[in-house]
Amino acid sequence: MCGIVGIAGTRDVAPVILDALRRLEYRGYDSAGIATLVDGHIDRRRSSGKLNKLGDVLHSRPLHGHTGIGHTRWATHGAPTETNAHPHASKRVAIVHNGIVENFRELRDELKAAGHTFESQTDSEVAVHLVTDYLDKGLSPSEAAQAAVRRLTGAYSLAMIFTDHDGLMIGARKGAPLAVGYGTTESYLGSDAFALAPFTNKVAYLEDGDVVVIKGPDITIYDSEGRPTNREVKTTSASAALVDKGGKKHFMAKEIHEQPEVIGHTLAHYLDPAGPVVQRQGVGLRGALSKASRLTISACGTAFYAGMVGKYWFEKLARLPVESDVASELRYRDVIYPKDGAALFVSQSGETADTLAALREAKAQGQTTIAIVNVAESSIAREADIVLPTFAGPEIGVASTKAFTCQLAALASFAIAAGVARGTLSEADEKRLCAQLLAAPRLVAEFLKQEPKIEQLGQEIAKATDVLYMGRGPSYPLALEGALKLKEISYIHAEGYAAGEMKHGPIALIDENVPVVVIAPHDALFEKTISNMQEVMARGGKVLLISDKEGIARAGDVWASIQVPDADPFLAPILYAIPVQLLSYYAAIAKGTDVDQPRNLAKSVTVE
Ligand code: F6R
Repeated sequence: MCGIVGIAGTRDVAPVILDALRRLEYRGYDSAGIATLVDGHIDRRRSSGKLNKLGDVLHSRPLHGHTGIGHTRWATHGAPTETNAHPHASKRVAIVHNGIVENFRELRDELKAAGHTFESQTDSEVAVHLVTDYLDKGLSPSEAAQAAVRRLTGAYSLAMIFTDHDGLMIGARKGAPLAVGYGTTESYLGSDAFALAPFTNKVAYLEDGDVVVIKGPDITIYDSEGRPTNREVKTTSASAALVDKGGKKHFMAKEIHEQPEVIGHTLAHYLDPAGPVVQRQGVGLRGALSKASRLTISACGTAFYAGMVGKYWFEKLARLPVESDVASELRYRDVIYPKDGAALFVSQSGETADTLAALREAKAQGQTTIAIVNVAESSIAREADIVLPTFAGPEIGVASTKAFTCQLAALASFAIAAGVARGTLSEADEKRLCAQLLAAPRLVAEFLKQEPKIEQLGQEIAKATDVLYMGRGPSYPLALEGALKLKEISYIHAEGYAAGEMKHGPIALIDENVPVVVIAPHDALFEKTISNMQEVMARGGKVLLISDKEGIARAGDVWASIQVPDADPFLAPILYAIPVQLLSYYAAIAKGTDVDQPRNLAKSVTVE
């Protein structure tokens, strides 16, 4: 996750951009840079390290110019050096980029063959050469930017300025946020409204596929088809920008939409996209599992369901025996901890009392303790032997969404790392699985386009008093998570079941008033899940099937379906989490509940 700021202005913009970048430093701070147009030419200052270092560089070598872009980086591709720092530039264009360009290898090879010389190890630099290539072919900056964006795969946002085009700035959004600020004589681009708060209180949020062309105060937004479009311009107060909902009604909606970006950020910490392989500097960490006799996984609520998915991955990929239980039970059981065992705890807040107590007990019993946490300074992070951070950013909505998928991203990466360390995964398998994981941000962004359809289904679900969820394998914990999400924010009674368990009792609940959400990726267990689904339908059950294209086609007639992008089944838990989150969000909206602060709950449960 990196921070982007751009100003098409009427004064020297570099000091102002530097100031705005400081408000984005939470997004990354291992290197930074600013580029401006000086008499029509691109000039730039970059530095490794925090923004203060860039401030020193600007102090000794001031940067003039009224049009400029700036960036604070959190390295994904390439070390945090000055050469890899943004903006990247050619003679014709300078670009800042946030996110991942998945197809950078193919594009780099193509552009190198066409005579382009690359300076950095970043994926971002391909955008510079691609735009330059189109400009060299005679396209205008706007045409070149739109043509380039159509060729870049991944989840990202971009801002660019062009030689000989003072006042011109172009931005693009595909899966990572970009806000446009409207001033009277100037215009702005920023990763969030908070960065823009001192400049303007009029902000529009780009939608996926949008390209914005800014000429001084004139702003035109084009949609993914290249048609001029309008995006609502919202007026925010400076204090509102501090708790910015990114143009959404609720933090939960904002956090659901942040997932392509934060999953990418979390994966970037664990995977090296150049391989793609798991990061080799994590050898010590993988060592913890290379000889482990057993892994105990524990957590509470949603974090526990992430851990349950992890159990399937560790068993399959690393052939590691796993025991899992909720922390409130584990801490009081007479658990028989093995010699050379490891214990993994998952927590967004890092403060959940039961999880912390279970960790302390496992440590006292001689286990190597590992924590997947979102809050780096939390108690669980401080007490665990090994910390695996997630990079979901602050999660404000009480219902956990982005923290859950980031936990899954970290668990999947760690399971691959464990498989490599234990010799159960070949090099080819490692590459294949890592490549699939790196596609997750793009596929999540692609799925989010179906939101209007899920809004309608959420309204239907809201009419029910009971809803059942079912799935098999890693989709079973997702069924539990779907039911938890629905009950906690819409107050509709919901239960999740392993699909094979339905006939052992729960099927008695089925009638035409009980929607059954069937989570069935097209995997090895698909046919089994579908026969359980048929048993439900034979008893009048109203099935909402969540599957991919082929799964939906093969399943036959159901009450409703949600189509998830085709992907390897390994990715399914991350992708299928999004429809269950959106379904409960829209059911809650239809019920008129307090989505971000549902009754009786607290974000961090620090009591037993
Ligand atoms: C549900 C939810 C909770 C938390 C649980 C653990 O949406 O958010 O079930 O997952 O309270 O919290 P953490 O992850 O902070 O330990």
